[in-house]
Amino acid sequence: MRKGILSLSAAAAAMTLGLTACGGEGDTSAQSSAAPSGAASQAAAGKIGVILPDSKSSARWETADRKFLEEAFKAAGVAYDIQNAQGDKNQFQTIADQMITNGATVLMIVNLDSGTGKAVLDKAKAQGVATIDYDRLTLNGGASYYVSFDNTKVGTLQGEGLVKCLADKKVEKPIVAELNGSPTDNNATLFKNGYDGVLQPKYDSGEYVKGPDQSVPDWDNAQAATIFEQMLTEQPKIAGVLAANDGLGNAAITVLKKNKLNGKVPVTGQDATVQGLQNILAGDQCMTVYKAIKKEADAAAQLAIGLAKGEKPAATGTVKDTESGADVPAVLLEPQAIFFENVKDVVNDGFVTKEELCTGEFAAKCTEAGIQ
Ligand code: BGC
Repeated sequence: MRKGILSLSAAAAAMTLGLTACGGEGDTSAQSSAAPSGAASQAAAGKIGVILPDSKSSARWETADRKFLEEAFKAAGVAYDIQNAQGDKNQFQTIADQMITNGATVLMIVNLDSGTGKAVLDKAKAQGVATIDYDRLTLNGGASYYVSFDNTKVGTLQGEGLVKCLADKKVEKPIVAELNGSPTDNNATLFKNGYDGVLQPKYDSGEYVKGPDQSVPDWDNAQAATIFEQMLTEQPKIAGVLAANDGLGNAAITVLKKNKLNGKVPVTGQDATVQGLQNILAGDQCMTVYKAIKKEADAAAQLAIGLAKGEKPAATGTVKDTESGADVPAVLLEPQAIFFENVKDVVNDGFVTKEELCTGEFAAKCTEAGIQ
């Protein structure tokens, strides 16, 4: 069900770029020979290609981002094609090439790393295709726009969240382990800047003890479990875990469970996934960070739709590309910290439903957490 509608004018837009407009999967109206009359081209809208990174590092990409982007494109009646590279960098490049060949005039990507992301953006730009970095900034990538959350703030909320949970547990001089996101994801760097901004002063003052601190390649949840298992073997007294997202948090929780430490050692997360929220309800995870992905998808879709129509849409601010030094026009949204008490906010916002969250053993916890 990835059907898009390629308008005649989209074909024309692609032809202007010297491309063959042959419409993507499911297109019925695309004819490369369809030349618009002057009047017919006024509603010109090119085709929008979106490449998501994978479906394992977080549930969000398939369950939230795809859904909300699709809804926004459908509502606007623009042609689109959303694909997922499934963590494969070569596949990512192939998808991009195909999208451009098929007449995409706007390309929105969530890179798998900045190097390969840049190669994709460079190729697109060379063909006159407008570019948007979605969620992850491609360093030195030169995308026309960047849409995301305030990712340093995400990290700050995680750091502050862990501090609150450790205070609730009244642990003296807790040893804190850090399970960071992928070293090739600029967001992971920003998250870490955020939480280390909170934790480092506590390490420095001796209030907390710095424990193992490691990145998880590609946010791989399975590797995260192995890494955390080693951390706990080397340092059995870990008293708090700063995990950069719900998937990594769940990996740590699995290991803590095996050692009967779940619920005793607070663990953080991010993304407000069903699994993360259930771990919070169960008392095994102390907090997550909710990012209203509908807002992110809507903002990115509006920019893409504007670009597809040949407009120059406005961003709300800029973000510094730390590698190129460029100020990238950006839209950054606000994240929200979620603890047991306000899991209901995520449900009330329509991000997860009570039906998917409050299954089986979680039903009673949902009632306790005031989820209607
Ligand atoms: C996103 C997170 C996500 C992680 C793993 C980050 O770039 O901002 O929401 O959990 O990637 O996919």
